[in-house]
Amino acid sequence: MKLIMLGAPGAGKGTQAKYIAATYKIPHISTGDIFRANIKNDTELGKKAKEFMDLGLLVPDNLVVDLVADRLQQEDCKDGFVLDGFPRTIPQAESLDSALLDMGTKMDYAIEIAVPDSDIVSRMSGRRACVGCGATYHIVNVPSKVENQCDTCNSGLILRDDDKKETVLKRLEIYHEQTRPLIEYYNNQGILISVDGTLTVKDITDEIIKVLGV
Ligand code: AP5
Ligand code: MG
Repeated sequence: MKLIMLGAPGAGKGTQAKYIAATYKIPHISTGDIFRANIKNDTELGKKAKEFMDLGLLVPDNLVVDLVADRLQQEDCKDGFVLDGFPRTIPQAESLDSALLDMGTKMDYAIEIAVPDSDIVSRMSGRRACVGCGATYHIVNVPSKVENQCDTCNSGLILRDDDKKETVLKRLEIYHEQTRPLIEYYNNQGILISVDGTLTVKDITDEIIKVLGV
């Protein structure tokens, strides 16, 4: 199963991708997580990406397209993958289509998690991310078992640098300008699934799995 998660910042792409990846036993590939790991390790890519991420802007296409194309060539992607946060622009989607065509395959579904802008800011201010493995929680909606400690790796939880209110508003603006056109792109390809992202985490997962089939 080859899947793309679409939706505004904070719509729940990462939250759902984790469950989908576990259900279908496919890797969860998040470009945001890849950039954050590079920032943490102070790599050249991380330094470049941070300049854009801290402002709520997209990292330039040329820094992300080859990175994902290489990742999809790896052995663990042979039975599928769930992409989270990529593609984010029409040129990225076109490069993905052509990379997959070269590999003799194509995407199965793009899943839109639809959440109104008005819900996004409050969600983001309550989000906490694990400094160790990147797992995501919410202080009210999706709490960790022990306060400020990751359930999976026991590392500490932090508010992401780009989850400040002004940066979230900028990310939303950029989403509408540059990423939202992908909804129509995948609808035109006949592979778009749209789910109501205001439901509970479990109800959304169930809805997605019902549509995809087990
Ligand atoms: P990225 O990390 O992808 O951020 P994003 O798209 O802004 O999305 P988020 O991770 O913020 O939200 P999410 O949809 O995953 O929501 P989550 O599940 O955490 O990218 C960060 C930056 O990297 C970008 O701004 C850009 O600069 C750069 N970048 C990355 N990819 C790029 C690319 N391809 N091209 C260019 N630049 C790129 O959920 C949010 C919160 O809500 C959590 O607290 C969660 O617990 C809670 N929650 C989830 N579901 C529910 C629910 N159903 N009900 C209530 N609460 C919920
Ligand atoms: Mg995410």
